[in-house]
Order: sequence, then structure tokens, then C-alpha cells
Amino acid sequence: MSEVSELSEVSELSEVSELEYVVLTPGDVDDVTSLLVDHFYPRESIRMSVGLSPTTKMDEEYIHNCLTSALSMGARDTTGRLVGLVLSYIYSTETPNLINMVKCSNDIELKVWQVDKIMADLVDDFLEPGVDSVQQMTRLCVHPDYCRRGVAATLVQKSMELGAKRGCQIARASATSLCTQKLCTRLGWETRATLHLNTLERDLLNVSRISCNKFKIMTKRLVPKTTKNSWL
Ligand SMILES: CC(C)(COP(=O)(O)OP(=O)(O)OC[C@H]1O[C@@H](n2cnc3c(N)ncnc32)[C@H](O)[C@@H]1OP(=O)(O)O)[C@@H](O)C(=O)NCCC(=O)NCCS
Repeated sequence: MSEVSELSEVSELSEVSELEYVVLTPGDVDDVTSLLVDHFYPRESIRMSVGLSPTTKMDEEYIHNCLTSALSMGARDTTGRLVGLVLSYIYSTETPNLINMVKCSNDIELKVWQVDKIMADLVDDFLEPGVDSVQQMTRLCVHPDYCRRGVAATLVQKSMELGAKRGCQIARASATSLCTQKLCTRLGWETRATLHLNTLERDLLNVSRISCNKFKIMTKRLVPKTTKNSWL
């Protein structure tokens, strides 16, 4: 079985039937922002540990770019309410990583960006043979009413299917919660690097506010290693 059809099979198995999974577009920006404000910024480890204000504007341009990528996925309930999302974009040897477009307006936002950047720099995907296009996944978030029902796993799977069709060789995520680390491992992702939080500068994160003591860079091959340049 090819890896892409394997992905489709898993996503069909794990869907919650009353939810509709949609590709997010720039027209969804208000719903996306409101889900992140209510359920991502207050719950994600890095943001929680620095005490980031949920009404931060630091992601505005970043979100817009993720929504124009046509790789970000959302889940809507029967009333149309957005209850889950994963943002995603492609970076390559030609196009820069969007992390460099985040704009910080205070010290707390700067700390978030610094940790994100440390994570981004932990692994250079382009050193891997045959990799020149990477699907970055980020801001994975599910409304508490729908947690533990496979919604996040389905969002990740469906986004990966889009990334594979767009020619990305790997998908990548910074997994900053035990839940996401477990979820990705169950979906066949590999841990490429681990950031032990006790190795960070002491005043960067307040680790007493979070339960996770290590973050992971995780990747998943979207096409078999032999596909690209297999004629060589
Ligand atoms: C992380 C998050 C997106 C998971 O969403 P979800 O829809 O509940 O995830 P799924 O139901 O697909 O769970 C997949 C697996 O993750 C694990 N998991 C999910 N919720 C968990 C929890 N509360 N505690 C421990 N493991 C959990 C389990 O392995 C689960 O599979 P299982 O139920 O078969 O054991 C959601 O909890 C969330 O929005 N958290 C706040 C924001 C955040 O931290 N995002 C991740 C940043 S890396």
C-alpha cells in the first residue's frame, strides 16, 4: 500500500461523523482567530508558560499566510461552528519558513518566538536526501467539547494528504504537548529532535505552569524515500 492511500484509510477510520472537515481559506480568518484565542493560546505549552495574552496579534500575518496555503484544515460541527483546526504551509529551499514573518510587540511575544525559533532550528530538513519541500503543521487545536474523539488526528491526516498531493516530501510539527507527541507517534511520525526544557535559559519559560518537560520536533514522510529522483 502506498503511504498516501494508507493515510486516507486512517482518516476514514477516525472521523467523528457529525463533523465536516474543510480546507480553510482566508475567508475563515475570524473563526480561526476566535478558536485560537479561546482554546489555543490559553492551553498550548509555550504560550501558557510565558503567560501570552490570548488576544495577541503576533500571529496575524502568519495566520493569513497559512490560510492562503490551501493546506490548513478545519472541522465544523452541524451548526457550522469551527471546533478544530490545524494550520499548515509549505517551506522549501526557495520559499522561506513563515516563522521569520511573526511580528513581536512585547517581551512575552518575543519569548514565544524565541522558543519557536529554537525548535525550528533544531532540525534542518533539507539535509535529508531528496527533501526540498516541507509541510509545516502548527496551531493544532480542538474545542474541549470535541477532545479525545480523534478530531486532531483526523485534521492532521487530512492536511498531510493535501501536503502529499502538493509534492511535499515530509510533514513536520513542533509537538509541545504529551498529547500531540502521543498522537503523532500513533500516526507513524518520528521524533527527530527533543528539546529538554531544563536546558533553556532560566527566564525564558516558566515550566512550573506546564506538565510537559520536553518538546519534540516530529516528522512524517509523505512520499517514500525512493520516489524523488528514483530515475537516478
Ligand atoms: C492537543 C489537542 C489538539 C488534541 O486534540 P484531540 O482531538 O483531543 O486529539 P485526538 O482525539 O485526535 O487524540 C489523539 C490522541 O492524543 C492523545 N490524547 C488526546 N487527548 C489527550 C489528553 N487529554 N491526555 C493525554 N493524551 C491525549 C491520545 O493518544 C489520543 O488517542 P487515544 O484517545 O486513542 O489514546 C487538544 O487537546 C488541544 O487543542 N489542546 C490545546 C492546544 C494544544 O496544546 N495544541 C497542541 C500543540 S503541539
